[in-house]
Amino acid sequence: PGLAEQRVQDCRSAGVHLSVFCSDPLLIPLSYREKKAGYRHIDCAAAYRNEKEVGLALKFFLRMVWLSEKICLSPLNCGPLIMHLKMCQRQSIHGPFRIKKGTMMSPENLIPTDIPATWGAMEKLYDSGKARAIGVSNFSCKKLDDLFAIARVPPAVNQVECHPVWQQDKLHKLCQSKGVHLSAFSPLGSPGSQVVNGPSVINNPIVVSVAEKLQKTPAQVTLRWGIQMGHSVLPKSANEARIKENISIFDWSIPEDLMAKFSEIKQVRLLRAEFAVHPQSGYNTLEDIWDGEI
Ligand code: A2P
Repeated sequence: PGLAEQRVQDCRSAGVHLSVFCSDPLLIPLSYREKKAGYRHIDCAAAYRNEKEVGLALKFFLRMVWLSEKICLSPLNCGPLIMHLKMCQRQSIHGPFRIKKGTMMSPENLIPTDIPATWGAMEKLYDSGKARAIGVSNFSCKKLDDLFAIARVPPAVNQVECHPVWQQDKLHKLCQSKGVHLSAFSPLGSPGSQVVNGPSVINNPIVVSVAEKLQKTPAQVTLRWGIQMGHSVLPKSANEARIKENISIFDWSIPEDLMAKFSEIKQVRLLRAEFAVHPQSGYNTLEDIWDGEI
């Protein structure tokens, strides 16, 4: 990063156009394009391997963004992580999964969680000022309640799968009552993803009919539904036109009678984390992971 920064400064002062390469060449232009389109929240995780590149892009180009960084649940992973948290505004536990120290997320590396110990490490990060907010991800109502029972600093956010086909009604109400912000990943139902097994969100007939009535795209209506529910939404797109389409949802709204239609949609959890059902993970069934919320 130091060298790259010097290059940027040299190029700027010489008026030379700078072209940036990194391990994933999509990432820097992508986060730059998202910022240009007006996005203010970029979602990172150790598991996405996008921390370094997004960090560079932020350092060089971006201001006023909300950066989420998610760690694999292990207090032992927190030490080195503190180092690259200088720019991070929000830190969250990626899920109720824990991996052996120094390994990457994969089923054979999973071990049973120790949420109180990990949360204690997160609270230290918060106390140190390195993270402006701490939170969790993929927590069920039960896991959130259990966390509240032991937390000195309550979680600011729970980032979970949430869209019209998996509305998380119970969790939504719990988060509201406890002042936890619900942030929605896969807000479009992750069309095209290999890990999604279930019905399409953006082709759902109710979503499509609301979109037709409002003369918006099904993706826009899906995201706008999330915003009107009070969530933040984290749509992913590598396509500039769709990046712009997905943020053009703040100068119109879904009227109440059409919002009511969403409650007729059959509910299916699309991202079930089957990988975590493993003899060493502490989860014998999907029911265990989600505490029956499936
Ligand atoms: P692409 O990158 O080609 O735009 P999610 O955010 O729910 O995980 O969904 C991400 C997927 O949805 C990506 O495959 C992305 O493809 C696609 N996508 C993003 N925005 C739209 C949109 N407005 N209409 C249709 N598909 C979209």
